[in-house]
Amino acid sequence: MDFKIQLSPAAGLANLTTDALLVVLVGPAAPAGMDKAVGGLLSDAVKQGDFEFKAGRCLYLHRPANLKAARLAFAAAADGSAKAFKTAVATALGQLKALGVVDLAVASFGGEALTAAHAEALVAASGDAVYLYRHTKPSAPVAPKLANVSLLAAKAQVAALTKGLRQGQAVAAGVALAREFANRPGNHATPSYLAAEAKKLGKQFGFKVEVFDRKQIAKIGMGSFLAVAQGSDEPPRFIVMQYHGGAKAQAPVVLVGKGITFDSGGISLKPGAEMDEMKFDMGGAASVLGTMRAIGELRPKVNVVAIIPSCENMPSSRAVKPGDVVRSLSGQTIEILNTDAEGRLILCDALTYAERFKPGAVVDVATLTGACVIALGHHNSGLFSSDDALASELLAASRSALDPAWRMPLDDEYDEGLKSHFADVANLAGRAGGAITAAKFLQRFTAKYPWAHLDIAGTAWKSGAAKGATGRPVPLLTHFVLARAAA
Ligand code: BES
Ligand code: MN
Ligand code: ZN
Repeated sequence: MDFKIQLSPAAGLANLTTDALLVVLVGPAAPAGMDKAVGGLLSDAVKQGDFEFKAGRCLYLHRPANLKAARLAFAAAADGSAKAFKTAVATALGQLKALGVVDLAVASFGGEALTAAHAEALVAASGDAVYLYRHTKPSAPVAPKLANVSLLAAKAQVAALTKGLRQGQAVAAGVALAREFANRPGNHATPSYLAAEAKKLGKQFGFKVEVFDRKQIAKIGMGSFLAVAQGSDEPPRFIVMQYHGGAKAQAPVVLVGKGITFDSGGISLKPGAEMDEMKFDMGGAASVLGTMRAIGELRPKVNVVAIIPSCENMPSSRAVKPGDVVRSLSGQTIEILNTDAEGRLILCDALTYAERFKPGAVVDVATLTGACVIALGHHNSGLFSSDDALASELLAASRSALDPAWRMPLDDEYDEGLKSHFADVANLAGRAGGAITAAKFLQRFTAKYPWAHLDIAGTAWKSGAAKGATGRPVPLLTHFVLARAAA
């Protein structure tokens, strides 16, 4: 899709030629001049009860008589924020995308002047609307025709909005990539596939990419990661990508993504219902790859390393068993009480591996616990960090990216349950506070750098009618990295 800024026509909106004109309306009543600009259509629609100035309301008009535009849509926004603008655009696009609209012009009335955040929100909503999964479904309906989106603005806004569109496009491309990887089924999106895609991104954007196989993973000493991988014949991969945008001596940001391409639970087998959704258990890895794509395009002045431990979690005669004790790369031994708590087992070795980059900050991203879904639902990702400054940075990035996250506690009292009779640590505490005890487990491997953990179990994908990956938290992570570069 192509995005650009278009100067609002001096002669008025009625003279704008486009396939569709979408007008986002802010405020409790028709903004002054708006009704006149569309030949009185708006006040008439309100009078007829077809439209209200309430968030969620949307009106579609075909070939409006007084306009040059072939279609006109109104969408009411809750307020003038970028968030409300995004929601309004998304609602309207839900209708418009099914039509033959190729060129879309978007205008906003009644609020303050649009900002870069609005422009970025427009791109995000458009990208989300037109994404269609078809890799293993050739019979899927054809993708929306929407190809050119222009945002109407005054001259003074052009520079800021252009920047917003550019950033938005990089983020949206990253989100689309993450959605596509995560949507692909476990027999397609294997660890080797993710590694091959990482290499492709490396070629495209000039990243250094290393990929380690089972033998090399063993040689490095990642006994905990290997324990999870040993139950499957599908070869594991440990992927390391490096982007150098900052000074050589500058400590990098390290992003670690959980890449379980299918989580059956292993010997601690999961119940059958909805087990198919455990193909999404590489959502952390997918979002780290998507973020690297956005970074590759935007080229911020910062160093970034991406680390992705990837394997399947399967039961077999060679699979790790409850009670087995393994030695992690850190030297700590781990009693595996439940083989379904595998995410932390592959992440802990990746977190130790991260030490060799002398990171300025490490953020791991994982569909780690069902408990996080119980705690926060599907709206907020869970943010855990013992470093207040890093937590604030990530929350700020979450807000500016419209990608919600909520900070969770890490009191040492939660560590109690991880005690083991037979190893330095157990991979499981009780059911209570399961998202927190999982984070406490990871924290034991992060003493050497500022660290944060994002539990995206509730936000990486949607179930039910709209089943599919969301591409979250690519927006949050990209904003975080960009803010670091600007600081
Ligand atoms: N991948 C799952 C977490 C998950 C479950 C994400 C449901 C989204 C929806 C993870 O590997 C897992 O199985 N966690 C267990 C941990 C438990 C055994 C301590 C869980 O959450 O039940
Ligand atoms: Mn599991
Ligand atoms: Zn898992």
